Amino acid sequence: MARVTIADENRTLKNADDIRAFLAPYGLWYEQWPVDDLDPDATDEQILDHFSTEIERLKERGGFVTADVINVTADTPGLSAMLDKFNKEHTHSEDEVRFTVAGRGVFHIHGMADNAPERVFAIQVDAGDLINVPRGTQHWFELCEDRSIRCIRLFEEMSGWTPEYVENGVHERYQPVCWGPSYLEGDRYSSRIEPV
Ligand SMILES: [Fe+2]
Repeated sequence: MARVTIADENRTLKNADDIRAFLAPYGLWYEQWPVDDLDPDATDEQILDHFSTEIERLKERGGFVTADVINVTADTPGLSAMLDKFNKEHTHSEDEVRFTVAGRGVFHIHGMADNAPERVFAIQVDAGDLINVPRGTQHWFELCEDRSIRCIRLFEEMSGWTPEYVENGVHERYQPVCWGPSYLEGDRYSSRIEPV
């Protein structure tokens, strides 16, 4: 399940209710969908079919019209160029909705809200985690060391997912913290850079 790391406050949230409450003022959704009964060899179509109820519910909630499945591995051609597009602080004109079917990654959010402090926090998403990064939210995304993720994406229209870059260098002060399976014992794959 997801972990939220607030590096500047030296704390990590590992409980789903805590994570939901922390994200809510910034407009982010967090849900967990069961993945245990999913065939690891399922095709993209089978995955969309398996989660059709959840997908239809989200379409209703957020006005999304299409869903697809993206598969990224370390062998994906052009992976570095693809990742370079999204690992710098940016916004989109539509929500970025991602359900992680397999693998993992880290969203950094530069959160601004009326009823919560401005802060940068990292959300590591794992299999079973659904998040929605609302339109206009400053964020960036990185993979973990295994460079592998399979996600369902929802769109209002594909063109809305073009990044609009925010040129303030905030993303350069943070590195993804990717926690391993035994993260409760302090097993993490990379450490953060102290903000400067
Ligand atoms: Fe993005």
